[in-house]
Amino acid sequence: MDLLLPADIIEAERVFPGALAACGDLDALLRLKGAYVGREGSHAARLMESLKAAPKEQKRDLGAAVNALKQQWEEGIKARQTELEAARKQQGDLASRWDPALPPPVPAKGTLHPLNRLMDRLVEVFRPLGFHVEEGPEVETEAHNFDGLNIPEDHPAKASSDTFYFAEHPELLLRTHTSPVQVRTLLRVAASLDQHGGIRFLAPGRVYRKDEIDPTHSPMFHQVEGMLVGHGIGMQHLKGTLEYALRALFGPDTDIRLRPSYFPFVEPGCEVDVSCPLCGARGCRVCKGSGWVEILGAGLIHPNVLSYAGIDPEEWSGWAFGMGVERMAMMLSQTPDLRLFFENDQRFLGVMGGLD
Ligand code: PHE
Repeated sequence: MDLLLPADIIEAERVFPGALAACGDLDALLRLKGAYVGREGSHAARLMESLKAAPKEQKRDLGAAVNALKQQWEEGIKARQTELEAARKQQGDLASRWDPALPPPVPAKGTLHPLNRLMDRLVEVFRPLGFHVEEGPEVETEAHNFDGLNIPEDHPAKASSDTFYFAEHPELLLRTHTSPVQVRTLLRVAASLDQHGGIRFLAPGRVYRKDEIDPTHSPMFHQVEGMLVGHGIGMQHLKGTLEYALRALFGPDTDIRLRPSYFPFVEPGCEVDVSCPLCGARGCRVCKGSGWVEILGAGLIHPNVLSYAGIDPEEWSGWAFGMGVERMAMMLSQTPDLRLFFENDQRFLGVMGGLD
């Protein structure tokens, strides 16, 4: 049997689900409960009251319908109460776990990459000697990377098997060393060299060669170039400067030795070894028992390099060196595999203590 509900109760029934959901806490729910199913004055109580006036033969069915409606409301309210109680408990748990006296969690801070830290250190070692930092592009011209450095047309380094060239720009390449920064800088300062009495700079940066990746090779690695141009510069100045710098890096007891070598852009050229900083030159795995570790290539600037830049080699002379950063970093930190520097595993990068 249909209930003949008063208009306000029809409206109350329509808005019940929304009103129930809108109860944000137990107090609001209690008020809703009073209004719908409370003992006195509630919608349910008034419906019960109105039953009294109903015709006798309908009383039973009408009573059942009113009870069903009341029960539906009660069940809804009960379910909402369970939800609200669970939410309150969860909040209480959180609040009891939060200790305002504890310091806040420390956010993880980034650091400079160990190779950058090592290059920064080198720059700091040379800075008091008056060296500043020069930079050049990693995409270079053949002219800067080879020609200006007295590297002949048929030099093996020019072969496309060693150098990354750009298919559509055959005159461009990824620089194979930081030495093109020598050429760029000399070209730029040639006219004002007199005014400054020469020039001295470091050029740290990335270089590229077609090498297969293995524990000691990578197609991308880092070098630091050093150059000084002045009057009457000879091997003694190169040796003295390197001795100072390598002692600052590896410790005051470090010895260095120069071995003759060949690079087209220096004459004479040499390779420079340091006494093994790990075993104190007694002989170990790193120095392969010899007590010496090769660290860089160097020499006196070839007259053709100065001439190419428009500098008179009769008047000016100087030295240059180039060192491999990964090599030095591996030795200082005793890292056996160069690939670790590029895999960005923070467990490795965070503990590179030897490089600071
Ligand atoms: N550019 C050379 C290399 O990459 C190193 C070097 C630099 C040698 C300067 C002598 C002088 O091997």
